[in-house]
Amino acid sequence: MYPIQRNRRLRSSATLRALVQEHHLSPSDFIVPLFVIEGTQKKEPIASMPGYYRWSTDFIAEKVKSLWQSGLKAVLLFVKVPDHLKDNQGSEALNPNGLMQRSIQAVKNAVPEMVVMTDVALDPYSSFGHDGIVKEGKIINDATVEVLASMALSHAQAGADVIAPSDMMDGRVLSIRKSLEQEHFHDTIIMSYSAKYASSFYGPFRDALDSTPGFGDKKTYQMDFTNRNEAIIETQRDIEEGADIVMVKPGLAYLDIIRDLRESVSVPIAAYQVSGEYAMLKAAAEKGWLDHDAAMMEQLFSFKRAGATLIASYFAEEAVKLL
Ligand code: PBG
Repeated sequence: MYPIQRNRRLRSSATLRALVQEHHLSPSDFIVPLFVIEGTQKKEPIASMPGYYRWSTDFIAEKVKSLWQSGLKAVLLFVKVPDHLKDNQGSEALNPNGLMQRSIQAVKNAVPEMVVMTDVALDPYSSFGHDGIVKEGKIINDATVEVLASMALSHAQAGADVIAPSDMMDGRVLSIRKSLEQEHFHDTIIMSYSAKYASSFYGPFRDALDSTPGFGDKKTYQMDFTNRNEAIIETQRDIEEGADIVMVKPGLAYLDIIRDLRESVSVPIAAYQVSGEYAMLKAAAEKGWLDHDAAMMEQLFSFKRAGATLIASYFAEEAVKLL
């Protein structure tokens, strides 16, 4: 009770504030998403993601060396697949010499200790831009899961440490886990996008990979943003199926979900601050309407405060410079 208690006492200097700071950010909290393209010596800007690029594999190798130097320890790879290699089955995803498989090797050769995470979903490989196989206008679950399990295995064979299924098909974690175990990849980690919402914040990412769905939307597989309990159910099932790390995506509009999961599961939780969140802040900062660095740090800390263990963020590299 005032004046016995004065809440401002512990805020009265920067030193005191540092002493009682409840949450911290360090470079090892981050996962750096990287977009890879075919070719050599290529660094392509992405219009809706200012300051972010698609890199050819030779440049990716250089890039991960500099990320490692700055203390970042994990990258999450996405590939932009040329149109002529896309089909309904996502066949190219299984090519042992495909762009993803070569990218994994490029990163591992450049920095063997770097944790390599790979996106598993068919959308960059699909002629329909959907995360699964399309049949009569529907995204079919079980046939897709079979392809995803082979895709995951092929990433593990290429050297991936962490498989990150982002497709939201039912049962994919179990199938991936079985296929990894069968081939003795006992230590390959599954980080499942367990609470992934159908979101308009993925727009810039789909520009980056040219993976916008050709028809319809993703609402029959990604979650409905009006729901909260569903996130807990999805996540608990993924853990039962063998997920080691779970994820909430997008980030900022779903902090309540991160907190719900923190209170209901014990595995590490990753938050994905997605492309649209990055684009919003870049756009506002470009106009001079927000202080970029301050707003960026405030958002990143909100994920930690909500209960996230890891943060996948396009700001990772900029953020660690300020830590
Ligand atoms: C692919 C995938 C998407 C993202 C990550 N993996 C797009 C989607 O589901 O449509 C979005 C990432 C971002 O917006 O930053 N399944």
